[in-house]
Parts: sequence; C-alpha cells; structure tokens
Amino acid sequence: MKKELCIIVFILLCLTLRYDKPLFTKFYYQIESIKHPNSIQVLVNKNHQLSSHYVPKDLEVISNQYAYDEKYLRKEARLSFERLSEEASTLGYRIIGVSAYRDYDYQKKLYQYYVDTKGKEYADLCSARPGHSEHQSGLAIDVMGSNLDYNLFEESEEFTWMSENAHHYGFILRYPKGKEQITGFKYEPWHYRYVGVELATTLYQKNLTLEEYFH
Ligand code: DAL
Ligand code: ZN
Repeated sequence: MKKELCIIVFILLCLTLRYDKPLFTKFYYQIESIKHPNSIQVLVNKNHQLSSHYVPKDLEVISNQYAYDEKYLRKEARLSFERLSEEASTLGYRIIGVSAYRDYDYQKKLYQYYVDTKGKEYADLCSARPGHSEHQSGLAIDVMGSNLDYNLFEESEEFTWMSENAHHYGFILRYPKGKEQITGFKYEPWHYRYVGVELATTLYQKNLTLEEYFH
C-alpha cells in the first residue's frame, strides 16, 4: 500500500513538473534558425531567428490612407490590414500603421539605439535583436489611433475596438499584458501580428500567445 502511494505521488509530481515547465528556460538561448520563413504562421521570437538575408518576396505598400508614410506588409497581411482599417473608419475610428516591415539592418540599428540610450537589459524587453523581430517577417504592424501616438494607443477608443475585432481580420495582439515571461517582451498594445483568420480566432478565444500555441 505504502509503495503504491509512493508511485502515485511520484506520478503526480512528474505531471506537475511537466505542466509547470516554462516555455523558455532562457531567452536568446539554443536559438533555432527558422526553416519556413514564408509561412503565415511563422514563429519569430527570441529563440527563433530569421536569416539576415530574409526579405519577403510579396511585400506591398499599404494605402497611405491607413499608414503613416510608406509602409510595407506582405500581400495577404496588407489586404487584411486595409480591410480592418476601412471597417474601423466606417465606425468613425482611425487605425494607422506607423511601423510595418523592417529589414534586418534597420532592426539592428533600432536595437542598438535602445541599447545605447536605455541599456541592454531594458533594450531586450522592448526591442528584438536583429533576426528576431516579427517586423522582418512582413507580418507585423504597429498602429496608432485617433490620439495619434502609438505609445498612447491603449488609451484610444480604437484600442478597445481592435481588442474585440482584430482577430476577424487575422491579427492578434502579439505581446499581451501578463504574458511577458512567455513572449519575452514588455506589453505592447500597439503591436499586431497577422496569422490568418482561423489561427487568430483560435488564439483569441483561448487567450493564447503564439509561443503557447506552438509549445
Ligand atoms: N518591439 C518588438 C518586440 C520588435 O522589436 O520587434
Ligand atoms: Zn512592433
């Protein structure tokens, strides 16, 4: 009887350890090169890296009605983002892209800027190292609302609308509040990632990040 109890306790302990296992033991550790960078569902993060040469082949410019200056996304994401912004505008909202595709070298300079001005520890919470930014995939976009400041996007009425509707257009809030230990980044209410309507809806309904989904 005692032996059986020990076995049960052992099994329960194993199960607990299995389910409490963090998604990443360490960020920027045992980094994997991304094998299918053109997949709409591609996982780009601190542990999955795009090649420095990767440039999506189907980048298209976003209509200047819905982007500040000349901004590019991959075709499918561009079409969906324009549909999203158009629908929002019929409801009186403004959703404008302020940063979309960024190439490897641009990201390298951006990350270095944060390191130089804020220190490495803070830089790693708010900026991806080159090759590790979703912006290089051409599937991510930072947006601002009618208060015209992406840093204040959370305070805009557009944020509430995006929170409830972005998934209908295939976009997810990629770095949510409370999931910083999983994504490795600070909460970014302005950063949306295109993954397609089906996956975006699943992630929205189950409240999952891409890391949790692929784990
Ligand atoms: N700010 C996000 C994490 C990036 O640099 O891609
Ligand atoms: Zn972003």
